[in-house]
Amino acid sequence: MGISLKMNEFGSRSSWIRKMFEEGARMKEQYGAQNVFDFSLGNPDLAPPPEFDVSLGEVLEERGKGVHAYMQNGGYPHVKAAVAGQISIEQETTITGAEILMTCGAAGGLNVTLKAILNPGEEVIVLAPFFVEYNFYIDNQGGIGKVVNTGADFSLDLEAIRQAVTAKTKAIIINSPNNPTGQVYSALELQALGEMLESCQSEFDSTIFLLSDEPYRKITYDGVEVPALFPLYKNAIVVSSYSKDLSLPGERIGYIAVNPAIACKTELLGAMTLANRILGFVNAPALMQKVVAKLQGKTVDCEIYTKRRTTFCKILEDVGLEFTKPKGAFYIFPKSPIEDDAAFVAHLQEFKILAVPGRGFGMPGYFRLAFCVEDEVIAGSAAAFKKAMEKYR
Ligand SMILES: Cc1ncc(COP(=O)(O)O)c(C=O)c1O
Repeated sequence: MGISLKMNEFGSRSSWIRKMFEEGARMKEQYGAQNVFDFSLGNPDLAPPPEFDVSLGEVLEERGKGVHAYMQNGGYPHVKAAVAGQISIEQETTITGAEILMTCGAAGGLNVTLKAILNPGEEVIVLAPFFVEYNFYIDNQGGIGKVVNTGADFSLDLEAIRQAVTAKTKAIIINSPNNPTGQVYSALELQALGEMLESCQSEFDSTIFLLSDEPYRKITYDGVEVPALFPLYKNAIVVSSYSKDLSLPGERIGYIAVNPAIACKTELLGAMTLANRILGFVNAPALMQKVVAKLQGKTVDCEIYTKRRTTFCKILEDVGLEFTKPKGAFYIFPKSPIEDDAAFVAHLQEFKILAVPGRGFGMPGYFRLAFCVEDEVIAGSAAAFKKAMEKYR
């Protein structure tokens, strides 16, 4: 075979979301887009906020030498300073531009961070259900992913995490608000996690980084706020992007923020900057860096997601599906009424509803619905869900 055996194997493992995407395209062609209820993709449908167009217009006016040149691999100093201002508020900690690195989305930021910290064979704990790419990113950078299930309501299971930590543990990735569950970890949970990791570091005489993947931080419901992590754990790193809160996933713009109190800060930031370069990203896109610098603290209209969440939860409750109401992000992760989540997703497809089986996120027995779709798709799906669920009520 021409391609590597590993990539061949990865191709079959990563196929769920891609498979549903392809199915969606085929069904829309066959039945008309308005007759298919596609909840398979986390690709935000909202336009960026109006301030984005203003900022983009201003940046496009810039002319002259160096406007599109390479810059320092970590990003433009004025952009990093602007991001640091916002992170200082979110993390309740004074951060400077020196602690920020601009990246190609959160995905780029995670790869950069893992490359900077991992020795071959070191372990990274991921919490199921998880964003499916984590294990690939860990493998990319020579590490080994160790999956630990979350507890009831998908909250942190500290005991299970504690059991999974070994002398080889280099990091744990958390994602809050969570894709696929919509869970947001409380300050108390995060404080307990921080204390537990501190004690593990002492026990194993090691450094364990807490990587907080936060692209949904600003999309929360019912007044829920994502707690600041830096005051709770020294070796914390935030990785995030503007993909979801500004609806810019195709522009590949994100950042890493490092806790000023972190171990080996200077070496770590140096390693991250080099990783950004040698992973082939070189630097985050120049234009987009300048655009987002002017948009700190801005978000898409989250009221739209709030209304969709209310409508969708009601539709799913009415047909008897069980789920934990999402506190943030734009996903619902209901329990499959039958054990085989893939079979249930195939059943939904007969009613032109597209979802992703929980096994695609490391948690069989559930399925994910993404509600970053037009209101009409959600409202229109009510009758289809009703028919699909008749058999199970
Ligand atoms: C939890 C999570 N982390 C990271 C990413 C990657 O984000 P980006 O597009 O900014 O690379 C996504 C994208 O869907 C995500 O859901």
